[in-house]
Amino acid sequence: MANEFIKTEQVGKVLLKQIKSSKADKPVYSDGPVEKELYEGFKSEPNYDAVISKRRNYSSWAQEYHLSPVRQNLLKWFPFDAEGSVLEVGAGCGALTGLLCSKLKKVTALEYSYQRARVIAQRHCSYSNLEVIVGGFQEYKEERLFDYITVIGVLEYAAGFYGGEKPFESFLKKVHTMLKPEGALILAIENKIGLKYIAGAPEEHTGRIFESIYNYPFSKIRTFSKQELAGLLEAAGFVSVQWYYPLPDYKRPKIVLSEEVTPSGTDSIWTLYPARTSGFGGKAALAERWFGMTLAQAGLFGEFANSFLVVARKTKAPEKLRCIRFWAANQGRKPEFRTNVRICVDDGKKSVVRSPDNDKSVQFIGEIAQRELLAEKFFKGKAEVVTGQPDGSSLRYSFIEFPSLEELIADAIEKEDTGFGKSLVEGYIRFLETLPIEECIPERFIQEFHLPSGEITQPVKCLACAVFDCVPHNIKVGPQNWYIIDNEWTFDYPLPIDYLAFRGILTLAANLQSHIKTHASKDQPVVLLRGYGKNREYIPLSWLEILQALKIPVNKFTRWETRFQNYVNIRQQTSRLRLSRKPKVLTRVEFCKVPTIWGPLHRLNRLLSNIAKLLTRRFR
Ligand SMILES: C[S@@+](CC[C@H](N)C(=O)[O-])C[C@H]1O[C@@H](n2cnc3c(N)ncnc32)[C@H](O)[C@@H]1O
Repeated sequence: MANEFIKTEQVGKVLLKQIKSSKADKPVYSDGPVEKELYEGFKSEPNYDAVISKRRNYSSWAQEYHLSPVRQNLLKWFPFDAEGSVLEVGAGCGALTGLLCSKLKKVTALEYSYQRARVIAQRHCSYSNLEVIVGGFQEYKEERLFDYITVIGVLEYAAGFYGGEKPFESFLKKVHTMLKPEGALILAIENKIGLKYIAGAPEEHTGRIFESIYNYPFSKIRTFSKQELAGLLEAAGFVSVQWYYPLPDYKRPKIVLSEEVTPSGTDSIWTLYPARTSGFGGKAALAERWFGMTLAQAGLFGEFANSFLVVARKTKAPEKLRCIRFWAANQGRKPEFRTNVRICVDDGKKSVVRSPDNDKSVQFIGEIAQRELLAEKFFKGKAEVVTGQPDGSSLRYSFIEFPSLEELIADAIEKEDTGFGKSLVEGYIRFLETLPIEECIPERFIQEFHLPSGEITQPVKCLACAVFDCVPHNIKVGPQNWYIIDNEWTFDYPLPIDYLAFRGILTLAANLQSHIKTHASKDQPVVLLRGYGKNREYIPLSWLEILQALKIPVNKFTRWETRFQNYVNIRQQTSRLRLSRKPKVLTRVEFCKVPTIWGPLHRLNRLLSNIAKLLTRRFR
């Protein structure tokens, strides 16, 4: 039972083979001219993906889908056995193939379309552990069994390849037979009742709104709900299934959560909603973020996640090492500062692992270890610094179960504390004041961030050590002690204490927007921080009073913060926070603009306002 090949090509170190009976010259799946462009691109420039992703925008969704480094976040964290083999079914243009080649001993990329297979071979031609096979999974014969089989964005097309009544089950049954007894299927697919579809985003494959929710009346493509997919996997013979939720979805994952984690209202995942969907410029029927939080509270987060990542096995053998959460490096940062963080459970014990995202950030991990030692000295007797133990090129930390100060403030807001947890915010500032302090002109800080020499002319109260990230988000509050996590940005020079208080309050405002907006009322007024970041953000009036009591004017902090952000990030910004002297006090905040008038009236309204706009432009 072996494949017969009609064509074999050597592309660099990669062998490209075409199965005889394949109809690969007539691909059923194509993104059009972009595939040729990719082939030519990689032929003339081996780092074509890196070159394109440096540009401000991708020219199309197809280009982004095939080239964006964000695609790899889906599996970057997965604890593959480095000695293992993988079959990548439907490898597309190789967006994940390179990652697999770097993590496993042997990679077989199977792709139905010859045009795409050529892109994979050209793109990854320097990997000697890769073979590319052109052909359909239905006709692929193989005696070898695999440690892993990946099916990323492919199962939904099975009805186009397999006949019979149960094409999806047949597809998965074949995967089952091709895996070693202890092997794993890794499958990613959209959830047919995912939050974004409920909000009105078009179905990803057909482009039609509500198509998956209405059970695909017009197409052969199928995606599934969690229950349906679980049923298919069981029918195919898989006995152990782990569910992960790539967020906001599997095509642009920034965070991956395992089903064991229920996100709270302060979880950083909410900043990822709404999920951007290609071709969706319309108005959402509801705000994904708010509805998502309500679903999570109701224990239904996974049922309505936008996509699933499933790890299914043939046996129930317990896994020694599991990863339950992965935060991918922020691609907006300069490459030398990009690190990936994951929470692992190893023999029942939780730990946090920070790893370099690329060769350039290996050094940064070493610097962080040094900075933690510096912080340990600085906080001595006042708080405990959580330091990492070197583990290969990574740092491994004990997991601190206590809530963060930010979470405690969120709780206080939820409990209708008048003042939005002001006393806790003040407690944070009092804590800063207990730390070693110097009265000085912070020359190094001024130099490092290229501030004008006259920026600070008189001595100011400074923390003896620049602990830029000692904000409520990074302080875990135990019954006896405070624990300081995350010392990426700790430097050996004085830092104005008021600036850190400002950073603390600003990050609180950014991270607790949902709480702040929900609880704005006559008794708890808020103020608009116009234009800070991309979105409108609000800050409780009670916190603003704390800011206004600081000695240095807020405008200066904003300038310093912009310099700091520009030091960390690729895209250089100019400062955008402008707080007017007399900010407008609000007692109610609109969450999102849901159209309230019914369809035709709404359209008429839009038409009239467009005409009005045109006329005013003409007569201006
Ligand atoms: C949505 S793309 C996903 C590509 C890739 N896995 C990725 O994530 O970038 C689906 C790919 O699977 C291929 N494909 C679909 N069904 C297949 C089958 N039965 N055998 C081989 N390839 C298949 C298509 O040609 C297409 O390139």
